Amino acid sequence: MRPLRESAVIVTGASSGIGEAVVLRLLAAGAKVALFARREDRLLAVARRADPAGARTVVVAGDLANEDDRQRLINETLARFGRVDALVNNAGFGQRGPIEQVPLAAIRRNFETNVFGLLGLTQAVIPLLRAQGGGRIVNVGSVAGRIARPMSSTYDATKHALEAFTDGLRGELKPFGIDVILVRPGFILTEFINAADQASAQVIENPGPYAPFAQSFQGGARKLKSIAGKPDDVARTIERALSSTSPKTHYAVPGHARVFLFMKWILPTRVLDRMVRLRR
Ligand SMILES: NC(=O)c1ccc[n+]([C@@H]2O[C@H](COP(=O)([O-])OP(=O)(O)OC[C@H]3O[C@@H](n4cnc5c(N)ncnc54)[C@H](OP(=O)(O)O)[C@@H]3O)[C@@H](O)[C@H]2O)c1
Repeated sequence: MRPLRESAVIVTGASSGIGEAVVLRLLAAGAKVALFARREDRLLAVARRADPAGARTVVVAGDLANEDDRQRLINETLARFGRVDALVNNAGFGQRGPIEQVPLAAIRRNFETNVFGLLGLTQAVIPLLRAQGGGRIVNVGSVAGRIARPMSSTYDATKHALEAFTDGLRGELKPFGIDVILVRPGFILTEFINAADQASAQVIENPGPYAPFAQSFQGGARKLKSIAGKPDDVARTIERALSSTSPKTHYAVPGHARVFLFMKWILPTRVLDRMVRLRR
């Protein structure tokens, strides 16, 4: 991987939260950045804040789940910068609700963005990195990729799937000088909860027999807020993963994320189940 100040990096989910913080950090480090998400006005605002003249940014509005939009992102990045050195697969959202009640179409939608869209973009970027002799792919997973919770297992399953794809890719791309890195954030204060509420509104408003547990879920989320990290905590880690001469294969951030992963490692499943179980 070339130094960041000579690199062109694609960042998905750049219109808010972690992606926005990553863009700001990469631009401060001198990189060129392609910003991708659906809300164009937000992308333009992020790009203008750190690069008012638009000299080192290209903004591409589109849906990660749409193949034409993914191809347009690559075409416009190449037209602007002539190369791609790294891809930060950050875009994603959470579908909530008890498995019994989440429509299969909603489960598919969550996988279309968090898994298939991400994979489609990655497949399109790999040949570019290989032709240039190397590069980096940073996948933004989650502690939820190791610990699945009641009421959240659709989203958690997308992140579990991402763990497996990341591990497989790491071995496949090593011979080509391409590093594949997984960053697992814990709870971070972003627009993620609002987006999850929106995606899950239909299920949340009609909880049926799960109504008492839905309240317990909200209570758990409120408690987590007190230990939440900031988007820039994750952005700093992603910058490190992109700039280090020998990046780690996995990062977890902030500290509570490492504690949860350690608990997953040492605790018997039934004990962990009790910790994440919902109460009436
Ligand atoms: N916040 C947390 O506690 C937390 C914890 C662990 C992991 N994560 C992961 O961190 C990543 C970033 O989330 P965040 O916390 O920063 O939440 P966020 O503020 O809601 O940001 C999500 C980003 O993804 C974009 N996005 C969503 N669906 C998209 C689609 N179909 N096509 C293109 N872009 C799409 C959104 O932009 P548009 O709406 O403009 O398209 C937005 O820029 C996600 O992968 C999430 O799973 C977050």
